[in-house]
Amino acid sequence: MRVDGHRGADCASLSGPLSLAKTANWRDLHWSERLGESRDERRRQPGGQRISAFVTDDPIHGSVSATQSFYEEGVRVAFEAIWGEHLHLGLFTRPKEPLIAAQRRAIRTMAESLDLPADAEVLEVACGVGPAARHLARRYGCRVAATSISPRQLAQGLDLTEAAGLDHLVRFAGADYHQLPFADGRFDLWWCQEALLHSPDKARVLGEARRVLRSGGRIVVSDLTVPTAVSDAERALIYARVHAPVMWDKADYERALAALGFDIERFDDWSAQVAPSYAAIKQAVEAHRADIPPGFPDAQVEAALAQFQLWVDFARAGKIGWFHFRARKGRLAATGDRQ
Ligand SMILES: C[S@@+](CC[C@H](N)C(=O)[O-])C[C@H]1O[C@@H](n2cnc3c(N)ncnc32)[C@H](O)[C@@H]1O
Repeated sequence: MRVDGHRGADCASLSGPLSLAKTANWRDLHWSERLGESRDERRRQPGGQRISAFVTDDPIHGSVSATQSFYEEGVRVAFEAIWGEHLHLGLFTRPKEPLIAAQRRAIRTMAESLDLPADAEVLEVACGVGPAARHLARRYGCRVAATSISPRQLAQGLDLTEAAGLDHLVRFAGADYHQLPFADGRFDLWWCQEALLHSPDKARVLGEARRVLRSGGRIVVSDLTVPTAVSDAERALIYARVHAPVMWDKADYERALAALGFDIERFDDWSAQVAPSYAAIKQAVEAHRADIPPGFPDAQVEAALAQFQLWVDFARAGKIGWFHFRARKGRLAATGDRQ
């Protein structure tokens, strides 16, 4: 995967306060079109301004901005070039299975029982470079708005999607999942993999999911958890690797979903897959260490490898979990609201 060549003009919409009118339609999802540029015009401006931070006065700004920096920084970028398009865990069916096969299985498993019709409108938040969005478009023919806060990942996602011939179905846009620039009741499915852990206000993210879903629409999530019993000291070590401000346990998600009027359809414990996933992720970096561009101090790479090992060890000790859940937007008990 290419890691250079940011297309600055593509990223420019990320400079705004992300308070786009709540009237976005399908065309609006292409950020360059929102800026009034055609794709040809955008391509003629390869050296355009590159925006690296959000401008917003929202109290969560500091945390979101720190996460954005984490995804733009050097070692992380070098590692993603090694890992390829999947930035999530995998479902292994046998020891030593290639990581990519397990990662593809995770996406397929999350998607396959949804019975998605081709006219479904899907929102993927925190999309990385969009492997799930491409799978949903390719397999089910549905349209996917793939959103994230990383300009670099969005640009790579667009490249990969164009190369796959799926850009008529998958659109990329900059959006913080705490404050989505989409109209109420706009989507049939809200999809999020391995990204809620970054949110300082997960209930707000789930509330935004509810808002943009039509009545009866569904959320599909896989995410890492930390059991309530884990000590603060160990929790701090776990959070440090991913710059997570706080990580929830399964019961926290169940409570938040119930409070927001979601009816849980399934909650699968995939925790046994965390250690093999991180062992494989670490192994990939070790195997391709020579491909890491010069300029990254060995100490940084060593520190990252040590953190992967710590996650493997913590996962084996039951201190990091991984859950997949699916829930349907139902009635809000307090108000009787069906929206
Ligand atoms: C571990 S990666 C997972 C990416 C992708 N879901 C996948 O599975 O390949 C976490 C993603 O969360 C995104 N992210 C973190 N905080 C976010 C926020 N506040 N709003 C939207 N995306 C966010 C990052 O940009 C990154 O793409």
